[in-house]
Amino acid sequence: MAAELPGQTLEGKVAIVTGSSRGLGAGMAMAMARRGAKVVITYTSASSEAKAATLVSEIEALPNSSSAVSVRADLSDISAPSAIVAASLSAFGSAIHILVNNAAVQITQPLAKITLENYQSVYDINVRGVILMTQAVLPHLQPRSRVINISSVGGRAGFADLSLYTSSKAALEGLTRSWAAELGQNGTTVNAVAPGPVKSDMLDSIPPHIVQMQMDNTPVEHRVGTSHEVASVVAWLAGADSSWVSGQVLNVSGGWSMY
Ligand SMILES: NC(=O)c1ccc[n+]([C@@H]2O[C@H](COP(=O)([O-])OP(=O)(O)OC[C@H]3O[C@@H](n4cnc5c(N)ncnc54)[C@H](OP(=O)(O)O)[C@@H]3O)[C@@H](O)[C@H]2O)c1
Repeated sequence: MAAELPGQTLEGKVAIVTGSSRGLGAGMAMAMARRGAKVVITYTSASSEAKAATLVSEIEALPNSSSAVSVRADLSDISAPSAIVAASLSAFGSAIHILVNNAAVQITQPLAKITLENYQSVYDINVRGVILMTQAVLPHLQPRSRVINISSVGGRAGFADLSLYTSSKAALEGLTRSWAAELGQNGTTVNAVAPGPVKSDMLDSIPPHIVQMQMDNTPVEHRVGTSHEVASVVAWLAGADSSWVSGQVLNVSGGWSMY
């Protein structure tokens, strides 16, 4: 494996990536492990237990100092964040350097049909879960830590029938800016990454005409992105080279959205 440049190494860092059993989160966990980080992989479904275990094995087999553990915890449960932090402390010691708030859910529901249960099912994970997760990590975050919130181009776009999801991502971007203002004193940065469509189970839940419209209007090769293309931006934000970037939303969409 090619040696990472000094600013890109994550050797000695402990990273928690929520929702990393599959999809974009799994790519982020692997990208950070390849740079030497010790990674906590979280998931919630029984059906993802084997996937999380396989990812742990793949990371443990890397020829570097990386290591991984997995923890099953439902982030719609308010006790999940402390269980995830406890697993990290038990496996890797008292310091945490990187938190990627990636776990999220999406439902398609027109405004007129949104129920309280729909609202809670999205906001309890995508917004409340992120607040509680970040609070739980806070006492253990070291100077020059990195908090990276995974948003979506939907956070700034208008997609019919996706308002619960898109507004939850807009909330995440607001949290990102205020936390960047609060936590910067010791060199900690807080940023968001807003991907365009990337092949995953979640993408299968987005109405196909929306994805087709995005591909048609994507300047770079008229395609969806790959999890590697998102993970490499997240891994860069996690490292020392991004030290002067905070409070930003990095759009990673092949130019579909430009801001
Ligand atoms: N895919 C895209 O096109 C796209 C575009 C823009 C933004 N994003 C964002 O990228 C992130 C990852 O999306 P994805 O497409 O990879 O999603 P995905 O394939 O649906 O994977 C979701 C991940 O989150 C976990 N998760 C779901 N509900 C959870 C809960 N209640 N508690 C804990 N973990 C939970 C899942 O765990 P289990 O495996 O246990 O279910 C899984 O690891 C999300 O924030 C999403 O909004 C995705």
